[in-house]
Amino acid sequence: MLEAFFTPQSVAVIGAARKPGKLGYGVLSNILQYGYSGKVYPINPKAEEILGLKSYPSVLDVPDPVELAIIVIPNKFVPQVMEECGKKGVKGAIIISAGFREAGMEGIKLERQVLDIAKQYGIRIVGPNCLGIISTHTPLNASFAAGMPPKGGIAFMSQSGALCTAILDWALSEEIGFSQFVSLGNKADVDEVDLLQAWEKDENSRVIIVYMEGLKDGQKFMRVAREVTQRTPVVAVKSGNTAAGSRAVSSHTGTLAGSERAYEAAFQQTGVLRANSIEHLFDYSLAFAYQPPLKGRSIAIVTNAGGPGIMATDALERSGMKLATLQPETIETLRQGLPPAANVFNPIDVIGDALTDRYAHALKAALEDKNVDGVIVILTPQVYTQIEETAEVVGRLAAAQDKPVLGSFMGQQKVGPGIKILNRHSIPNYVFPERAVGAFEAMAEFWERGQRPAPQYEHFQVDQETVRQVFDRVRGEGRLALGDAESREIMEAYGLRIPRSILAKNADEAVAAAENIGYPVVMKIASPDILHKSDIGGVRLNIRDADQVRDFFDLLIYRAQRYMADARIWGVLIQEMAARGKEVIIGVNRDPQFGPLLMFGLGGIYVEVLQDVTFRIAPVSRQEATEMIDEIRSYHLLRGVRGEKPADLKAIIDTILRVSQLVTDFPEIVEMDINPLTVYDEGRGAVAVDMRFVLKEKESKQE
Ligand SMILES: Nc1ncnc2c1ncn2[C@@H]1O[C@H](COP(=O)(O)OP(=O)(O)O)[C@@H](O)[C@H]1O
Ligand SMILES: [Mg+2]
Repeated sequence: MLEAFFTPQSVAVIGAARKPGKLGYGVLSNILQYGYSGKVYPINPKAEEILGLKSYPSVLDVPDPVELAIIVIPNKFVPQVMEECGKKGVKGAIIISAGFREAGMEGIKLERQVLDIAKQYGIRIVGPNCLGIISTHTPLNASFAAGMPPKGGIAFMSQSGALCTAILDWALSEEIGFSQFVSLGNKADVDEVDLLQAWEKDENSRVIIVYMEGLKDGQKFMRVAREVTQRTPVVAVKSGNTAAGSRAVSSHTGTLAGSERAYEAAFQQTGVLRANSIEHLFDYSLAFAYQPPLKGRSIAIVTNAGGPGIMATDALERSGMKLATLQPETIETLRQGLPPAANVFNPIDVIGDALTDRYAHALKAALEDKNVDGVIVILTPQVYTQIEETAEVVGRLAAAQDKPVLGSFMGQQKVGPGIKILNRHSIPNYVFPERAVGAFEAMAEFWERGQRPAPQYEHFQVDQETVRQVFDRVRGEGRLALGDAESREIMEAYGLRIPRSILAKNADEAVAAAENIGYPVVMKIASPDILHKSDIGGVRLNIRDADQVRDFFDLLIYRAQRYMADARIWGVLIQEMAARGKEVIIGVNRDPQFGPLLMFGLGGIYVEVLQDVTFRIAPVSRQEATEMIDEIRSYHLLRGVRGEKPADLKAIIDTILRVSQLVTDFPEIVEMDINPLTVYDEGRGAVAVDMRFVLKEKESKQE
């Protein structure tokens, strides 16, 4: 679909300039200099000829068809030029010019205008305000970048143009090969999602890397990324803060959620590997682009120095990778070929005076061992070390089989020539072994995800109609927060267990309610304006008789009024006293980019303090719900410590899934909390003791 950008038959440079130093000159000369073989048309009304090519006053004057237009003219002329491109039948436009969305109100209008024209004619746009595009295999360098990276397997997209130039510089100096290189700029039209879709089908792109600051449509990104990562590794660096929306939050989940959490969850759920720095971004992508897949977590280390071997081992263990247990045959082979002082167990230490032959022997043995999924070759430059010869042999042995091998030739000056040889054999080198381990870990995650079955979303039998009616009623009364009775209706409609409770408007009603429910009871202030009832002493447990009910009724009302004079007070809730159990929280906060952000964690009144919570975007699968439980720090508590019975994890998962279904069915829920969900021992279920729902204002919002 985006062929016009990557493999066009003909290109016009609108705003091609005659003077070196101008962008319009740089773009044209890059196209010519780096071997583009299609037709090239400079467009400039004031020139006859530029860089030896005939120049045309307008794209409409070009006698032949033009597939791609690269626009390098002042912003205010872009709409008109776009119109001409439309008439000419141009398929794609790279707008390098700046002065659009990034430049304030006028720019926003201009960008919209340009986009409208493009839509009308069916032209796709990259940019505006970008550096351009490079397709090394075509080859086409449609950018004003200084240089052209070598051909290779990395497809790179970036929202930041400055980062593009830095990466390019690095690619040139390290001879790192790229397949595609796209500076997205303002993303008026083509964005991350389009490129993921296009590159998934591109044979030359073995790994896709993304530098992003924000997304337009998080849900769509998730849908597409989920598909793409089945086959192609996607590594992302996310930076910058996206607008989290200005809505005041009124739930525990709302307080703890945030755009950062949403991105984290979305990446995890879609299998997008997150790199925490640009350094990691490239560490991972080199391994993906140049080595065969890592099909397990067992790694062998071959080293000529003890210390780095141990560092690598530690890093393996920290990251959830494993030091491979070598087979007895392998150990025997190693013993025969290495001196007695060598360590023949993993990490295999060929010791400081090792020449190439020892490396060859050890690496070959390790690669042949079926317990080994991948190998890291560590080399430190000692007096006799044959750096280049060893690199040569490592390269040859690695190429002869299908397990991944990563280098960690440590140092710079002495090992430099060896690293170049490794690179020529497509073996990425990491100056520190920990970084090689990090790359292997990313590869293992990608592989495991590919083996996992696609998520299955369960559907419970629920009563949507009742929920619909409750929401309509609440909104009809001009409210957004639900009362307890209403919340209970919702919970029951979705099959969730709650303690009995009755709202009392005066002390007599309270006593009647308590007697109806049966002592002991719990009393809680009922007000839509009081979020944390306990904070103001608004919750009393274990109330045993009518006198206490009367006393506390007055006390709770008094406290609420003193706390907030104009709080709306609905009365006091009389509630069945639930048995003690473990308290967890399940909540949802609607994220502006990704939608329902579901939270699970250790609950009760200390959630905000402990912050032991984890997030996913709803809907979630059973597998994802299970992972959420495993992820929190206190999952040991749930599994039972010191002879305790484990908590009913099935009931937690069931609740997570029902909540997930509820908020997916009803996008108008902007916030909800169940806190606590009191969970009992295995087999005894869970009960939602306290909950809260907040609805969205009716269609006030617009993007
Ligand atoms: N019905 C109940 N049975 C037993 N314990 C309860 C009950 N309701 C509340 N609690 C306890 O009181 C704490 C606070 O009550 P809750 O209704 O969650 O109020 P809030 O969160 O507004 O302070 C809960 O975390 C729970 O430990
Ligand atoms: Mg609570």
